[in-house]
Amino acid sequence: MASSFVVCRLRMWGRGSLVRCLQKVDTFPRRSIGTNVVAAQAEATRKDESDEKEKDGQKSLYAVQTERQEQAERSVLISCHSRTNENKFLKYLSRHGDIKTHFFYESYGMYAVVEFANRESVASLLEEAAIPSVSHESMVPFKSRLLSVSDLSSVDSANQKSGQKCRPQTSTPINELIQRLSREESIDRQITSLTEAYQLTEENSRLRFLVCSLLKDIAAAYFPECTIKPFGSSVNGFGKLGCDLDMFLDLDGITGRNVKMPKSGLFLEYQMKRANSERAVTQSILSVIGECVDQFGPGCVGVQKILNARCPLVRFAHQPSGFQCDLTANNRVAMKSTELLYLYGEVDPRVRCLVFTVRCWARAHGITSSIPGAWITNFSLTVMVLFFLQRRSPPIIPTLDHLRDLAGPADKSVIEGNDCTFVSDFSKIQLHSNTETLEQLLCEFFEFYATFAFSRMSVNIRKGKEQNKPEVAPLHIQNPFETSLNVSKNVNATQLDRFVALCQESAWILQQSGTNMPRDHRGGDTPAPWGLATILLPLQVAGVKSRKKKRREPASERIKSLLESLKNKNQQKMN
Ligand code: GTP
Ligand code: MG
Repeated sequence: MASSFVVCRLRMWGRGSLVRCLQKVDTFPRRSIGTNVVAAQAEATRKDESDEKEKDGQKSLYAVQTERQEQAERSVLISCHSRTNENKFLKYLSRHGDIKTHFFYESYGMYAVVEFANRESVASLLEEAAIPSVSHESMVPFKSRLLSVSDLSSVDSANQKSGQKCRPQTSTPINELIQRLSREESIDRQITSLTEAYQLTEENSRLRFLVCSLLKDIAAAYFPECTIKPFGSSVNGFGKLGCDLDMFLDLDGITGRNVKMPKSGLFLEYQMKRANSERAVTQSILSVIGECVDQFGPGCVGVQKILNARCPLVRFAHQPSGFQCDLTANNRVAMKSTELLYLYGEVDPRVRCLVFTVRCWARAHGITSSIPGAWITNFSLTVMVLFFLQRRSPPIIPTLDHLRDLAGPADKSVIEGNDCTFVSDFSKIQLHSNTETLEQLLCEFFEFYATFAFSRMSVNIRKGKEQNKPEVAPLHIQNPFETSLNVSKNVNATQLDRFVALCQESAWILQQSGTNMPRDHRGGDTPAPWGLATILLPLQVAGVKSRKKKRREPASERIKSLLESLKNKNQQKMN
């Protein structure tokens, strides 16, 4: 029942275009430190389950992750000349085997991602590749799947037709987005259009897995059985083109492969160095791999080892992809948060649309920032949207406690004493039939947080209800898994006040705007901003000049009328 309801709703909301990129994302093994054998068994069960589902035509996240990683290992990244002739290039490479897919993009020069049908083709291609002849001695002779192609033929390459089309890897600038949205007929369409413009593309998703795979080749010099997996917005369904690439170095392939101790007779085990703590192990591994990335990693620049952070990491820019990368290890709780966010984004397509819209709105007004500070983070903002959706009547998404209650034995996960268990089989999730439109939800989101009792209450997606605040921080959002922590501890009162004021302002503007494009906006090449486009503009211009003079009341009056309308609405609900 529940699954057919979900499927029918997904169709209604145009699932195909919105989740295109997410069909390729990954999920993460349910493991906790010191329980690797149990975890390996759980993973085997999970694999069986996912194989079963695949037979039914439904691909599990686990299966998709495996597929993406495998695809990345059959791929190479090649720096090309902008005049590289596509046909000639493909013909040249296909001497090593069939090419399954390829695409070009630009990032500090032109690059091609080429996926071969077989891994042997990659080995054959690497066998043929030469060490650069120029300044040979000053090169670190580290071979990788990042290559360059040159054309030494006698024909002047300037006269050759290139023909390749570059796939964009960065998001639409905000001004272009505003123009695009202004041409849409309804606010609902504006919201889906924004999501389509911002979400990760199929190619960008491939490139993210490929960069992880290239990094894995470096780390494999020390830990041949390691894997490097993307997490955070690269795979949770809420990633915008241009978002950072969060990576997790997973060594469970080594530690999890534990051989059973025999009851009698000889027994061999590895001698290993002991460190003071698990954190010290993480720090030393990241330190060495960070050094290796810095000294040998082709295309990796600006490497910083941030080992004393709560979650130690190595930060660097991967120039060929243009990604800002954060490499962590032993960060399983973040992996679980990623998996949870993914699940919420999958159960109802309105979730993803609303998160994208709120994230974009927040960025446009400087509520979030790429620089760390007292700002609300995208992660906190996403949790706030999820909480709001749990508070709808009827709720659009279930609480985390409910997802935990639906979990099966293979879903059990305890990480560092924190219960991170929740259901992985979406078909077990019963949804209520809430039919609110995206426009209603966006408007209600702003109203909800414009009047939220931040001074007393905490946002809690585990319970799906406001809880009394356990601490004095201006904004308290309970960490879903490490429940004693506040994910928005960094946010100061000024930033929270700005957020609330912008919610009030945006709610008011949306209330004034009709649901559909105003009649006098139709027909022009560059229609004036309306609806969602208006609230993405800086607020001092948000009212649009002509309207500003005629219709705007003082802020205090607007807030008064907003509160008045909320009161009326609540009364209507109670009646
Ligand atoms: P953007 O990078 O801003 O697009 O979003 P993101 O979701 O990737 O956020 P970020 O890179 O800051 O963090 C990566 C992931 O780490 C998040 O998706 C979460 O899973 C996790 N994370 C980030 N901040 C916190 C936090 O404060 N607490 C917890 N528990 N997890 C966090
Ligand atoms: Mg991120």
